[in-house]
Amino acid sequence: MRPTVWWQDDHVVMIDQRRLPAEEVYVECRTPQEVAEAIRSMVIRGAPAIGVAAAFGVVLGARPGNGALTSAELDAIDAALRSTRPTAVNLSWALDRMRRRAEALPPKADVRAELLGEALAIEEEDVASCRRIGELGAALLPDGVRVLTHCNAGALATAGYGTALGVVRSAAQAGKLLRVYADETRPYLQGARLTAWELVQDGIPTTLITDSMAGHMMARGEIDAVVVGADRIAANGDVANKIGTYTLAVVARENGIPFYVAAPVSTVDLATPTGAEIPIEERSPDEVTMHAGTRVAARGVDVRNPAFDVTPHRYVTAIVCERGVARAPYDASLRALATP
Ligand code: MRU
Repeated sequence: MRPTVWWQDDHVVMIDQRRLPAEEVYVECRTPQEVAEAIRSMVIRGAPAIGVAAAFGVVLGARPGNGALTSAELDAIDAALRSTRPTAVNLSWALDRMRRRAEALPPKADVRAELLGEALAIEEEDVASCRRIGELGAALLPDGVRVLTHCNAGALATAGYGTALGVVRSAAQAGKLLRVYADETRPYLQGARLTAWELVQDGIPTTLITDSMAGHMMARGEIDAVVVGADRIAANGDVANKIGTYTLAVVARENGIPFYVAAPVSTVDLATPTGAEIPIEERSPDEVTMHAGTRVAARGVDVRNPAFDVTPHRYVTAIVCERGVARAPYDASLRALATP
């Protein structure tokens, strides 16, 4: 499988996730504004992948050669990218890191080359983090495990390998994985379109279910563990992730099934005390009323479309990061893992 997003010659290339699984089409971005539009329009999505794309977006704003990037220019690039998706904290994490690098450069530096080095480091570190998360997460699972996952926290949502699907891939490699159940993930269908596509490509036994089937499967003893990604983890361990995650966590608790969150340290936001302070993105009503270009809802109905929900930390069995596995009390365990 090709990577999700990469730097090629003098521009950024990303697989167009809106077109999957029907077509493998690639989008090229040559300006920060084009990257911002790609993030906003879901060409690229998934918290860590958005962070990597944004880092490359900053590089595109710097002129080739050693022309300086003024702080007004940097502010404009930063603002255009930062406003695209409010919930995924990896976006602002990557932009903050790029800004620190830009501001620390000596006067005669080749700004674009230096910023490209930083963006490539973010990309490389993300793949390494996913592999480590995979190993640590797989170690928590029993032999013959049947895992339920939600949305797409896979290679497509990261620079490669995935977080929740990194755990799945590592468990498969260790010979522990019996089957993955992928929720289709209404309304945008990341599970049906993206997770199913990734896992089938890897030859991992995968069964697609609708979101509303998950409780039934858990109650029937057909699921042994739930593993999901995250868009932002508050300091107290509350987890923002794709809408529907909270419901799964509650039903998992009711059925005595462990609920694991797999995410890099860049998703942990110690500056946000609890889930109540996490901004929740509301997306277009069209995602709810339309299916593949056809209207499926009655005209004139009011629609809500919050793209994420918050799972209170009391439902989370463990949070698997590349630096270790955090357990309750999360204030202390996350602080220990996420403090540089
Ligand atoms: O709206 P999306 O598709 O960007 O939402 C993605 C998710 O909710 C993922 O679970 C999360 O970003 C983790 S990706 C490793």
